[in-house]
Amino acid sequence: MSPNHPAHPSRFAIAIDGPAASGKSTLAREIAKRLGLVMINSGAMYRAVTWKVLQQNIDPADTAAVIALLDRIHIHCGETGMTSTCTIDGADPGDELRSEVVNANVSAISAIPEVRDLLVKLQRNYLDHTSIIMEGRDIGSVVFPETPFKIYIDAHEDVRASRRSDAGEVDSIAARDAADSERVTAPLIVAEGAVVLDTSHHTIESAVDAAIEILKQQGLPVQETPSIVP
Ligand code: DC
Repeated sequence: MSPNHPAHPSRFAIAIDGPAASGKSTLAREIAKRLGLVMINSGAMYRAVTWKVLQQNIDPADTAAVIALLDRIHIHCGETGMTSTCTIDGADPGDELRSEVVNANVSAISAIPEVRDLLVKLQRNYLDHTSIIMEGRDIGSVVFPETPFKIYIDAHEDVRASRRSDAGEVDSIAARDAADSERVTAPLIVAEGAVVLDTSHHTIESAVDAAIEILKQQGLPVQETPSIVP
C-alpha cells in the first residue's frame, strides 16, 4: 500500500467522488462506520463558505469580494466522533447548509480557485490526525491524488433527482453537475485509478458491500468493526 502521509505510513485516505445526489455521503458514512474511519464531507465546507458569503450580502458573482472575505473569516474544520464538522467564525450553519439558496450558489463559489486552495489545505490537514474517508468532487484527482483507494459513485440522473426531492430539497442537480464538471479548476472527473460504482440499482447495504469489495481489490487491508444498528 502506498503511504499517504510521510510521517505516518499506515495512515490513509479513501477518496469518494461523484455528481450531486449520487449517494456519496450515505455510502461514505456507512463505509466509515464499517471500517471505523472518520468521514469527511468536503461539500459541507464549500457550502459553509457559500452560506457565509450570502449571510454577508456579498454577490456570489463578485469574485474579488468573495476572495476578500476569505481573509476576514476563520474556518474551523474538525470532527465529532466519526463525522466532520465545520464552523465559520464560531457559527455552525446547521441545516442552512442545504437550503435552496445555498444549493443555487455553491457551484459558483466552489469554482473560485482561491476558495479551493483554502479548503483543500484544510481537507489535507485531516490526514495529520487520522485515517479518513472523504467525499466530494476532486478528492481522488486533486486533494489526495496519490491514494490508491478511489471510488467514483454515479447514478442515473432521474434516480438522483428523485433522491433529492424525496429528501424534501429544492436542488437543480443537472445545473450543478454541469457547473461542477465544466469549471476550469478541479472539475468533477473520474480520477485516474478510480473505479466507477453505479448505485442506481443498489440498496444502501449492497452498495456498501460493493464499495468495500472495490477497496479490498485496491489493496485496503479491511478490518470491519461490528455494525451497531441504531
Ligand atoms: O457534495 P455536495 O453536493 O454537498 O457539494 C456541494 C457543492 O460543493 C458541489 O456542487 C460542488 C462543490 N464541491 C466541490 O467543488 N468540491 C468538492 N470536493 C466538494 C464539493
